[in-house]
Amino acid sequence: MGVVGLGAMGAGIAQLCVEAGVDTVGREVSLELAQKAGDRIAHFLTRKVEKGQLDQDARDVAVGRLSLTADLEDLAGCDLVIEAIVEELASKQELFGELERICGGDAVLASNTSALSVTEIASKSSTPQRIVGMHFFNPAPLMPLVEIIRAELSSDDAFETAYAFGEKLGKHPIRCHDTPGFVVNRVLIPLLNDCVRVLDEARVTVEDLDAGMKHGAGWPMGPCELVDLVGIDVHVHASDALYEKLREPRMAPPPRLVAMRNAGLLGRKSGRGFYTYD
Ligand code: CAA
Repeated sequence: MGVVGLGAMGAGIAQLCVEAGVDTVGREVSLELAQKAGDRIAHFLTRKVEKGQLDQDARDVAVGRLSLTADLEDLAGCDLVIEAIVEELASKQELFGELERICGGDAVLASNTSALSVTEIASKSSTPQRIVGMHFFNPAPLMPLVEIIRAELSSDDAFETAYAFGEKLGKHPIRCHDTPGFVVNRVLIPLLNDCVRVLDEARVTVEDLDAGMKHGAGWPMGPCELVDLVGIDVHVHASDALYEKLREPRMAPPPRLVAMRNAGLLGRKSGRGFYTYD
């Protein structure tokens, strides 16, 4: 198993893989970044031991299953590779070209893209039949869902291999076709954009809006907390991508979020978004 890109999503996916007993190669652009992700994974697994959710031995074995690299060639032996790199079409197309060259002909190649078209990602590939989407939700180790996305030219074999792997990771996979936002983001992104617009329309505070959706709609987190968790840059990018494809005004990112993104208020990862973090 290989994971390319060890940011919040990639590191979470790599954690799931090693916890599920799969030897995993994690690749970042530098060994230093790879090591940071490895440390984060080790930290979360240690927390599970402290909370009595995992044995110390199982934790150590899981940590030992992860090998870190900055060299894509180290993914040569992988049967399945999931990419979770930057959300740029050209970068993903280039990466899949490299993976096709490096990995064996039977290897399935999956994208964790949240808003790009998997069909477009695969369009520059010479073996598009083995490319599918596997879309995890943030935080990947905790959220049970994975969307398995069939691109126009995905083979049944690749699609079902990805589905079975989702099950092996202990996730609840669902099957869908490659449409803008797939299933959940098609609904969630305009909904979160509505929430942000309501902040100004109803002159409600961030805290009260979050309380409203938690206590009035049963959400586990308020919308502002959630956008902070996802990353304001990630959310704005996904909104732009959906708006470009669907042209529905609700898909367009609210100006307030664009301004926050431009100011570097990216949510939890930058220490400040709607809320301030230590
Ligand atoms: N790996 C492992 N453990 C992690 C973790 C990670 N990456 N991140 C956090 N944790 C652990 C923490 O260590 C924490 O435990 P400690 O504080 O004891 O160390 C624990 O998980 C979480 O504890 P909480 O009490 O905060 O857990 P919770 O019961 O409140 O649930 C939640 C947290 C699952 C995130 C819940 O609040 C929730 O479901 N929120 C909604 C999240 C959501 O909607 N995500 C989807 C976003 S949209 C998306 O991702 C799509 C996209 O394409 C952008």
